[in-house]
Amino acid sequence: MVKSKKHENHTLSTDIDAEVKEIIKKELERQKNQLILIASENFTSQEVIRTMGSILTNKYAEGYPGFRYYAGCEHIDEIEQLAINRANQLFGSNYSNVQPHSGVSANLAVYLSVLNCGDRILSMNLRDGGHLSHGHKQNLSGRYYEIHTYTVDPETEMIDYENVRKLAKATRPKLIIAGASSYSRLIDFNKFRDIADEVGAYLLADTAHIAGLMVTGYHPSSINVADFTTATTHKTLRGPRGGLVIADKKYAGLIDRSVFPGVQGGPMMHIIAAKAVAFREALKDSFKDYSRRIIENSKALCEYIKNEGFRIVSGGTDNHLFLIDLTSKELTGYEAVGTLSSVGIIINKNVIPFDKLDPIITSGIRIGTPAVTTQGMGVEEMYKIGELISSALKNRKNNTKLKEIGKKVKNLAGDFPVYTR
Ligand SMILES: Cc1ncc(COP(=O)(O)O)c(C=O)c1O
Repeated sequence: MVKSKKHENHTLSTDIDAEVKEIIKKELERQKNQLILIASENFTSQEVIRTMGSILTNKYAEGYPGFRYYAGCEHIDEIEQLAINRANQLFGSNYSNVQPHSGVSANLAVYLSVLNCGDRILSMNLRDGGHLSHGHKQNLSGRYYEIHTYTVDPETEMIDYENVRKLAKATRPKLIIAGASSYSRLIDFNKFRDIADEVGAYLLADTAHIAGLMVTGYHPSSINVADFTTATTHKTLRGPRGGLVIADKKYAGLIDRSVFPGVQGGPMMHIIAAKAVAFREALKDSFKDYSRRIIENSKALCEYIKNEGFRIVSGGTDNHLFLIDLTSKELTGYEAVGTLSSVGIIINKNVIPFDKLDPIITSGIRIGTPAVTTQGMGVEEMYKIGELISSALKNRKNNTKLKEIGKKVKNLAGDFPVYTR
């Protein structure tokens, strides 16, 4: 008789594939030794990371708590319900869908719930701060819906609500999107609500970037103002990579069906559990203080760089990020990223309002403070970072100087270690 083969024994030890482990180790060193100023990145907690690495990844759970297409979901239901309850507590809402794999999935689910192919969307122009999923011609949003865009005011570089109103009246959109990837000012969701009501449109607040600031009261809330709020959990919220949709419970069935089976299959339960962990962290007073410090740092770094002679888009910031216009420095965003990366300062190139350069090159860079604030840096360190950025850009052709700056960057990052355990 042929004996059946014994299944491979998966142990739950922390040892992993040596090749992968080596690469993760190198990435950890990079994250520890560089200054991460990408506005959409953060350092999530060890608890969130461990939860993402849990056995919950093994379970298929298409459906929702109490209504699954697979058996064996009793504990999965508990986890998802916990995440939902905590999301509602955090956002002050009565309905949340915590299944979206990402911010884009969350947005697509909202579109699918209220729009038909060819319907009109009014969203922020990408060049002025909008996101790809708000209508880029290669994104599903731009391919299946008729996109109209509003820009910022050319003088103030802030949203011109009267112009949004004019455009809404002229285009009669079915959905208006308020929310951005690279806008450094507060967004007035109430004004967007008024405009949406005047033209009978739905309002979506995409709070992917500002969710952490919003739930702690450092940005006006879109909850009970917009019909739908989407968010990511990995930016200022400092949780696992993922998204969520929040709405009034009258939209529950519509949104649930649009997320699954509309745009997704089985939920990632290990990520949903990690979202629950992150929501609990975000409910703590220390997280409120963290949000306050993100903005304090952003303003301090922005002012320093401004005083060094760089033009800041809209003249300043109210949130976790700001944009530098490099035009007068005869420097592109692409070149600035190269120079700053060479000294270990990690930022991203970014188009600025009315940018004449291609999005691959850009006239600007975007700088954000969520990650360095998580490391424990404060205003004093922001002045040091401002000096390092300014000095690197001004001495971009001086290799000796750049080397010196690189050492200072490494020392500063090393003084605020992450993941010490
Ligand atoms: C405003 C906005 N919406 C949506 C997203 C998409 O999030 P994700 O990358 O998780 O799909 C982003 C990401 O940067 C964003 O800035």
